[in-house]
Amino acid sequence: MSSSKVAGKASYKIASIPADGIGPEVIAAGITVLQKLAATLKTFDIEFEHFDWDSAYYKKHGQYIPDGGLDRLKAFDAILFGAVGAPDVPDHISLWGLRLAICQPLQQFANVRPTKVFRGTQSPLRKCSTGDLDWVIVRENSEGEYAGQGGRSHVGKPWEVCTETAIFTRHGVERIMKFAFETAQSRPRKLLTVVTKSNAQRNGLVMWDEVAAEVAKGFPDVTFDKMLVDAMTTRMVLKPESLDTIVATNLHADILSDLAAALAGSIGIAPTSNLDPTRENPSMFEPIHGSAFDITGKGVANPVATFWTASEMLAWLGEKEAAKQLLDCVESVCEKGIVTADLGGKATTVEVTNAVCKEIEETLSTEKA
Ligand SMILES: NC(=O)c1ccc[n+]([C@@H]2O[C@H](COP(=O)([O-])OP(=O)(O)OC[C@H]3O[C@@H](n4cnc5c(N)ncnc54)[C@H](O)[C@@H]3O)[C@@H](O)[C@H]2O)c1
Repeated sequence: MSSSKVAGKASYKIASIPADGIGPEVIAAGITVLQKLAATLKTFDIEFEHFDWDSAYYKKHGQYIPDGGLDRLKAFDAILFGAVGAPDVPDHISLWGLRLAICQPLQQFANVRPTKVFRGTQSPLRKCSTGDLDWVIVRENSEGEYAGQGGRSHVGKPWEVCTETAIFTRHGVERIMKFAFETAQSRPRKLLTVVTKSNAQRNGLVMWDEVAAEVAKGFPDVTFDKMLVDAMTTRMVLKPESLDTIVATNLHADILSDLAAALAGSIGIAPTSNLDPTRENPSMFEPIHGSAFDITGKGVANPVATFWTASEMLAWLGEKEAAKQLLDCVESVCEKGIVTADLGGKATTVEVTNAVCKEIEETLSTEKA
């Protein structure tokens, strides 16, 4: 890692990979806001190096990441990622070619997805106001259903056979459970829900439950319960206030976190951190959403997910106060009704970005006007 301190001021080097669809639009917005924050607070410096690894690069070169690319990423403090996926490249090629090709080798095994109803925004749930839905979903990010194990034989024949094998290792489950209990412990309610499907998946997920119970012994101050994933969907909708921290497998959490984002108002606000908790490798931060072909280039993509992502990145880098201040500014802008269409507003990506920059300037600047 390369963060350096000059005269007590930390300086961060960030690799930016905007990639496809609305990725470049929201990452540009995120960088604008981060640079504004750094220039206003003057407590840290942040610089970006851009990587043009996207589906156009893939179509030209036959690979998303050039040879030696991962080693280049290791020199950065963090990675800010947009979204990958193009209409003319199969999704499994783009996902495995870029996003998973970074997460897996860099051992970003903990995927963290906070969700809450922002001040000034509305949940589609009738009885859910700000404060009633405030969750952190911890997703296992290295194995499970997305381990990449399996194959196809007799392709295209009527007798074609395909296997998609979920992998659960004791090591992988222990480390994600420990991370989830620590996350729950760090939050005021100290409440963890372990999502499972051990009634039907009687091998890997039975071990998943056993390991959860074992790890729980080391966290006597954390209350934990267990939910089958199907029942979990109804609890998220009907009793959102009963949940706080949630841990689930790679597939289950992938699905539940999109539901969570929608219940909080829009997929356009939700962030993701792909963390290597050992800090041996840089972690990667991205909005939850994909490349959103339907709105690409229209200037209406909600940049809030990327702003929250940027805030999570700052917190991970150690700038906790700046992270909180950034998120407060974003919420204040939402509260003023300056929001994009997915949140019921009329503002463009640039208008929301400018409003957040103005809020930063007005509320955080220490210089007299
Ligand atoms: N992490 C990633 O890179 C990632 C994640 C999900 C999907 N994808 C890829 O993205 C492509 C499109 O996938 P999809 O349509 O299933 O999901 P998507 O998240 O791109 O879009 C789903 C819906 O949400 C809307 N939406 C998404 N982000 C928004 C934002 N910031 N503001 C306003 N509206 C927003 C879109 O307009 C669309 O209607 C596919 O190629 C898929 O593989 C990539």
